[in-house]
Amino acid sequence: MYDNNPTLTGKNKTVDESRQGEVFYDEALADGKKRFYIESYGCQMNFSDSEIVASILSDSGFAPTRNVEAADLILINTCSIREKAEETVRKRLREFDKVKQQKPETMVGVLGCMAERLKTRFLEEEKLVDMVVGPDAYRDLPKLLEVVGEGEKGVNVFLSKEETYADISPLRLDSNGVTAFISIMRGCDNMCSFCVVPFTRGRERSRDCFSIVAEATELFERGYREVTLLGQNVDSYKWENPETGQVVTFAQLLEMVAHVHPDLRVRFSTSHPKDITDEVLYTMARYDNICNYIHLPVQSGNSRVLKLMNRTYDREWYMDRVKAIYRILPDCAISSDIIAGFCTETEEEHRDTLSMIEWANYSMSYMFFYSERPGTLAARKLKDDVPEEVKKRRLQEIVRLQNQVSFKHNQADIGKTFKVLIEGNSKRSDQDFKGRNSQNKMIVFPKKHGLKPGDYVLVKVESATSATLRGHIVEN
Ligand code: SAH
Ligand code: SF4
Ligand code: F3S
Repeated sequence: MYDNNPTLTGKNKTVDESRQGEVFYDEALADGKKRFYIESYGCQMNFSDSEIVASILSDSGFAPTRNVEAADLILINTCSIREKAEETVRKRLREFDKVKQQKPETMVGVLGCMAERLKTRFLEEEKLVDMVVGPDAYRDLPKLLEVVGEGEKGVNVFLSKEETYADISPLRLDSNGVTAFISIMRGCDNMCSFCVVPFTRGRERSRDCFSIVAEATELFERGYREVTLLGQNVDSYKWENPETGQVVTFAQLLEMVAHVHPDLRVRFSTSHPKDITDEVLYTMARYDNICNYIHLPVQSGNSRVLKLMNRTYDREWYMDRVKAIYRILPDCAISSDIIAGFCTETEEEHRDTLSMIEWANYSMSYMFFYSERPGTLAARKLKDDVPEEVKKRRLQEIVRLQNQVSFKHNQADIGKTFKVLIEGNSKRSDQDFKGRNSQNKMIVFPKKHGLKPGDYVLVKVESATSATLRGHIVEN
C-alpha cells in the first residue's frame, strides 16, 4: 500500500508494458490531442486520486500516454509520509529534467502530499516545476494549465472542508479490469504525532454514500469483481444526508456496497483500532462477499509509546479488538503497519512490538523505521533520539519475525480450498493465473481452459512461502 512497496510505485507500473494494447492507451485515440503522463507514489489514496486527475484532464482534451518523452504534460503525484518517499520524488524530477531539456515546452506538475507540504517553496527548490497542485485542488487543473500556457507558474494548494470529488468518475489507469479502488472519504482528523497526513490532506470528510454505491455498481456492470473502499480511517466514515438528516455509518455503507451484487467482493482500508466497531465485524460476518481481511495498523505494541504517538488506544485496547475480530470472524486475516524506533522507545518497549506480531498473528505487515516529519507533533515536542543504526536493527528484527509469522500463517493454509478471484497472469509465467482469496493472500495456480480474469475458482493450496500460496483448481 505504501511507497516502499515496489509493486505499487508509479515507476514500476510504467515499466510494465504488458498492457500496452489496452484501448485506453491506444495512441491512435490520442490523435491530435495533447498528452499527459502521470506517475504516482504513496498510498492507494494517491493512486486513486491520479485516476480522478486523469478524468479531469481527459475532459479538457488531454489523452494519457505511457511514454514520458511523448508527453506535453508530465505529472508526478507525490507522497510525504517518510523522508525517503520525498527523496524518491526529487530523484524522479531530475530525470524529468532531462526530458524537459530535450523538449523545453513540456510542462511539469507536482501533485499530492509533497505539493501540499512544500507549497510555493517547491517552485524555488525545483526550477523545472511549472505547477504545484494540492490534493483538494484538482478541479482547478484546466485553469492552472492555461496559466502555465501563458508562461506563468500555476499554484493551488488550498485544502477544502467539502471536496470529495463525488461526481467525478475516475479514469481507471493501469487497471486489470477486475479490481478497483473507491475513495469513500478524504483527509484525517486524527493527530498521530508522527504523521504528516493531517497536514497534507486536511480535515476528514465523507463522501455521499449514494455516489459510492453508484460507482461500485458501474464498476460491476463493466466487469469488475472487487472494490476496495479507501480512507485513512474508514471506520469513522459518517455521511449525513442533507435532505433527510439521516446519518450513514461505515457499517451501513459496507452493507449497501455488499448489496450491489453477491459476486462483487468488497474490501476496505485502513481501519483504525480506536474506531473499528463490533457492528462492522458483524456486518462482515453476514455477507460472504465482504472479505475476511482487516488492515489494523498497531504502530507499536507498547502502551507508553502508543501514548506518545497519540494513537488514543493502548496495548490492551488493541488486543481486545483483535480478540473481537477472531471471535466474530474466525477465518479473518489481520495485517498491520509498524514503526520501529519511535522517539524514546526502549529495548523492552521494542520487544512489546515483537510480541504483538506473534500474538496477533499478522498475515503480513508494512514495516518502517521512524522518520521525523517537519511540522508534526512529534517533531515539535519529542526528541528523535533513537540512533539510526538502532532503528534499523529493530526494524530488521521486526521484519525477520513478521516473515516467520507470515510463513507459518501461510503454511497453515496448505490442504485448504479457497474461493479465488482471478486477477490475471502470474508474474513469473503466463501458464499460471494469480488471484486472491478472501483473506487477501495471493495464490498462484496453473490455468485451465475457458477461465479468464474476473472469474471465481476454487483452488486447493499445495505449498506456501512467506509471500505466496501455490495450488491447483479443484472445481470450476
Ligand atoms: N491512516 C493509516 C496510515 C496512513 S500512513 C493509519 O492510521 O493506520 C501509512 C503508514 O506509514 C502508517 O500506518 C505508519 O506505520 C507509517 N508512517 C506514518 N508516518 C511515519 C513516519 N513519520 N515515519 C515512519 N513511518 C510512518
Ligand atoms: Fe496519519 Fe494517524 Fe491519520 Fe493514519 S490515522 S493518516 S497515521 S494521523
Ligand atoms: Fe503519502 Fe499522502 Fe498517502 S503522505 S501515504 S500519499 S496520504
